[in-house]
Amino acid sequence: PKTQLLSGIRLMLTAGPTREALDPVRFISNHSSGKMGFALAQAAVELGAEVTLVSGPVSLATPAGVRRLDVESAAQMHSVVMEHIDAQQIFIACAAVADYAPKTVASHKIKKTTADTMVIELTRNPDIVANVAALPNKPFTVGFAAETRDVEKYARDKLGRKGLDMIAANNVAKEGQGFNADTNALTVFWPTGQTDLPLAGKNELAGHLLTLIAEKYHDTH
Ligand code: C5P
Repeated sequence: PKTQLLSGIRLMLTAGPTREALDPVRFISNHSSGKMGFALAQAAVELGAEVTLVSGPVSLATPAGVRRLDVESAAQMHSVVMEHIDAQQIFIACAAVADYAPKTVASHKIKKTTADTMVIELTRNPDIVANVAALPNKPFTVGFAAETRDVEKYARDKLGRKGLDMIAANNVAKEGQGFNADTNALTVFWPTGQTDLPLAGKNELAGHLLTLIAEKYHDTH
């Protein structure tokens, strides 16, 4: 049998949105569907990896052979990732993590008042992928960048600032790419190079990206 590129490699991904609670019935979130992360998890299993998928709330079936850990908030995603990261050789941050969360979560439903405006105070969430990349024993770490302009400039900035080994950037302003779409196109950057992965179905694209990640991982390990 053909040896697989990621045979026995432990790989963790984050996927989907996070939900930041305001009170027992309300939250702040975003339109991430989780499709790209789930497609990558499936592609990783097909390459022979042992896959742990840390997922925010999505309505997608777990790919066969994937260990799935469900979370809601960015804080929960951060602690579940950190709890299991030591065993991982590759980490791919695909989740659309909320940048901020409400400073306090009301224990009862917030009531409307007669005032026309309301202020919600927010605090910064931990940057999960940056914290993983800062670990002394860090896995090969891959991030995503959704940009609407100057894709290369912002992606290379994130690669350096967050200490990543690779970043996959998409121009979400283009038709058929990004949030909720079934197709996507990516430009992938690493410290010494870059390559374009052209518009394709998310499953096909996931296979191409995982193959590239596996090759770069093996170049450095
Ligand atoms: O800085 P920005 O949010 O654009 O970076 C996107 C990348 O960082 C994605 O890989 C995303 O999963 C990751 N991220 C994270 N934790 C955050 C914010 C972003 O892991 N709090």
